[in-house]
Order: sequence, then C-alpha cells, then structure tokens
Amino acid sequence: MSARRLLVLNGPNLRRLGTREPDVYGAATFDDLEALCRDTARRLDLTAEVRQTDDEAELVRWVHEAADEQLPIVLNPAAFTHYSYALRDALAQRTAPLVEVHISNPAAREEFRHTSVVASVATGTIAGFGLMSYVLAIQAVAEMLTVQNRTHATP
Ligand code: DQA
Repeated sequence: MSARRLLVLNGPNLRRLGTREPDVYGAATFDDLEALCRDTARRLDLTAEVRQTDDEAELVRWVHEAADEQLPIVLNPAAFTHYSYALRDALAQRTAPLVEVHISNPAAREEFRHTSVVASVATGTIAGFGLMSYVLAIQAVAEMLTVQNRTHATP
C-alpha cells in the first residue's frame, strides 16, 4: 500500500520563519519546518505535502482539495485563525482529521489571539510547543488514521 497523504498547510507570514519575531517563533526557517514535517511523516508511513500561502482564497482552495480527496490536514492558519469565517466554513466540510497547530501559545498572548474561529471545526488543537507542535500534530493524525483503519477493517 502506498504511503497515506497528509497536507500540512500554513497561513500568512509563516514562510518568514527564522527572521519573523524570532523571540516568539524561534530561529528555525520554513525550510527547516518543511524538512521536519516530511521526516516525521515518513517515519509514520505518511507522505506530508507542506504548503504555505499568504492568500486566504488559495488556502480555502487547498482545504476544498483536502475535503474532496479525504486528506487529513495539519493546519497553522496563522492570523486567519482569529477572524477568517471563510476558512472556518471551508474546514467545516472536512472529510478527514484536522489538527490546528500553533508554534506559540496564542492563549498566553494578546487578547485578539485568544479567539480561534477554526477550533470548533478541528479534531483538536496543539499549541505552544514551537515546531514540535507540528510533530505532535502529525503523530496525532497517524494515530487517528490507524484507529480508523482498525475500526473499518473487515474481520
Ligand atoms: C501563530 C499564532 C497566530 O496568532 C499568529 O497570527 C501567527 C502564528 C503561531 O503559530 O503561533 O501568525 O499561528
């Protein structure tokens, strides 16, 4: 059986990791993040496609693609987390697990970051562990897919 596909989607400003507010987001670059996600996924027999966009419409299109192809998503919506109802409505159509991730812990930051319009349509959220948030999220997806397969397996 070929490795199961997983989309790791990233919203605005995340390609600037490494130079963007390193005191908050760390020194690792987006390339480092991509390599970490792909390696983590590979070890769990998943193939991760890591994408980033600053464009809400493009992100919504990727979410539609995932819904149509029943692909699990690890999503860092970045600032869209806090106000994008378009993204939230797209994610509500999901047909596979969705893990919301954040590098920082938005609950411990400014007031406007305390609201996630995405959280209620996600399977769950992992935040505050730096890039390790993505590792934990990919592990959670792998675990959920294993449980699903076991449940649907014919005896
Ligand atoms: C973020 C947190 C958001 O509040 C912020 O807008 C981001 C990054 C994080 O990963 O910690 O761009 O999603």
